[in-house]
Amino acid sequence: MGGDIFIITLSPSFEVAFQPHGRKARFDHEVSVLQAARALGVDIASICGGAGSCGKCIVKIVQGKENLGEPTPEEESLLGGRLGEGYRLACRSEIMGDAVILVPKESRRGAQRLQSEGLDTPVTLDPQIRKQTGGEATRILWGDTVVDTRPSRDAPIHGFAVDVGTTKLAGYLMDLASGDVVSVVTEMNPQIPCGEDIMTRLTYAMGGSEQRETLHRSLVDGVRQMLSDACEKADADPLDVYELVLVGNTAMHHFLLDLDPLPLTRSPFTPVDLGPRDLDSAPFNLGNPKGKMHVLPLIAGFVGADCVASILATGVHRSDEPCFLIDIGTNTEIVVGDKDRMVACSCASGPAFEGAHIRHGMRAASGAVEGVWIDPDSLEPILTTIDDAEPVGICGSGLIDALSEMLKAGIVDTSGKIMTEIENPRVRRSGNVPEYVLAWKRDSGIGSDIVVTQLDVRELQKGKAAMFSGAQMALSSRGVQPSEIVNIYMAGAFGTYINRESAVNVGMIPEFNTLDIQQVGNAAGTGARMALLSGGVREEAQTISRKVEYIELATVAEYNQAFLDALLLPHRDLNLFPGTVKKLGSAHLQYGRLHEKTK
Ligand code: FES
Repeated sequence: MGGDIFIITLSPSFEVAFQPHGRKARFDHEVSVLQAARALGVDIASICGGAGSCGKCIVKIVQGKENLGEPTPEEESLLGGRLGEGYRLACRSEIMGDAVILVPKESRRGAQRLQSEGLDTPVTLDPQIRKQTGGEATRILWGDTVVDTRPSRDAPIHGFAVDVGTTKLAGYLMDLASGDVVSVVTEMNPQIPCGEDIMTRLTYAMGGSEQRETLHRSLVDGVRQMLSDACEKADADPLDVYELVLVGNTAMHHFLLDLDPLPLTRSPFTPVDLGPRDLDSAPFNLGNPKGKMHVLPLIAGFVGADCVASILATGVHRSDEPCFLIDIGTNTEIVVGDKDRMVACSCASGPAFEGAHIRHGMRAASGAVEGVWIDPDSLEPILTTIDDAEPVGICGSGLIDALSEMLKAGIVDTSGKIMTEIENPRVRRSGNVPEYVLAWKRDSGIGSDIVVTQLDVRELQKGKAAMFSGAQMALSSRGVQPSEIVNIYMAGAFGTYINRESAVNVGMIPEFNTLDIQQVGNAAGTGARMALLSGGVREEAQTISRKVEYIELATVAEYNQAFLDALLLPHRDLNLFPGTVKKLGSAHLQYGRLHEKTK
């Protein structure tokens, strides 16, 4: 497709061409570069959905600079010196005449590594959809209700379990007679152009009924496309798919079912309805028109059916011993408890670990730095990248590693300050902003140095502090100490690849007695599969949703101070990280002012 030229003629006014895609079109009205790109199917990263805040939609104007509007304040602040080199933000710059625009590698979204693997938790096969054969026909039953009759004795029955994530969708086509997974597909959430995090999408939905409809339609279309892909992969017929089970966070749940998202945008963030839902699949045009859909119940405004499914998959609700479950994403859910009592909270850990608001942050796609080790003496880094490609940016696991290594090597102190007094070419200032050079221009795939800036460090500190303080609130609300936790589960795509030691070093998760953290991948997808295969599991899901006690962090008096304390590396109270401080102390750890007295 790369060299094809597409010409869309709207009206002979001006022409916009994108490189290296080779796509061009004529427009008869002013458009933003991002709108023009979307119209042509040119892929440009837009983590904030075009709000002008993420700085990821950078493009270079190769020809026709004079045909673009004046740089906006957002461009001035996010691009700085790069403005003078012809760089602009695609979402902020308006085109009014012919232009040739280069989409640099760093701004191409590319194929993201999507997590579909999860636990294989055993479940007794007891699906809602069953076959009953008699004579030469097969009756398809949903519970005790006959939903279809097939003219052959060996009609297959399939189901489709879907985890609807904010960033990605994962679908599992299953044989309901055997319980086997027949095929697995993953897809980016098609709502991403409307905003890459939940709050941006909720704000978009509030823009009017058309926008709300767009979010609903795109999600249903995305699930339909995945179902069709999964069937094609397994050589199965979508008409054999008689039930879908869907899980997702509360916002995705509301968008999918076209429920009013307004209550999710204002305190006390109460969902329209918490209960499970059984629906006909026909109105959604998903699978067999006589089929059914089941949506697992929610826990609260920001703790959804995906969290219920993760609990099902990890078995926290059956455990005799205290468990800690963290599902890391733009919103991070934390569950602490056991079979007797569970508490859950959701913290806005932000999109930094997805790459937003980070100078060279990116998602986990080819060329993303995912692992970092820094020689404490020379400060030279060794990087590992996805696909062993030339580095083009840093993804979440790389960012946590980088921060941990910078702390260990004394490049940042425990307050997070980059120590510019260090005499090393990799530690420098760009303008007024201190930064550490992770990859020199000659080694990178983007034609410039890849750096971790002081502002990046601050963003990461905010994200990790949100997670740690959320964990602290959940632990104290459940009345257990980190040292008492026996089972630790880390879920989510980012959680699967993260270096556990680095996560503790920077104080993102508590210092447990063990680093034996089970990285459980897409636990929500596993829970959805279990619910597809068993009516009993659906009952368990209902019990979980009623039983889990939700903590609304905004209403917890100590939360703000806990968050501020957790901004330090690893924490203001070093007694919470005795092992880590001992280990880092024997390296090159530099204490910040607030730790001077306690070290
Ligand atoms: S999409 Fe342009 S700044 Fe985020």
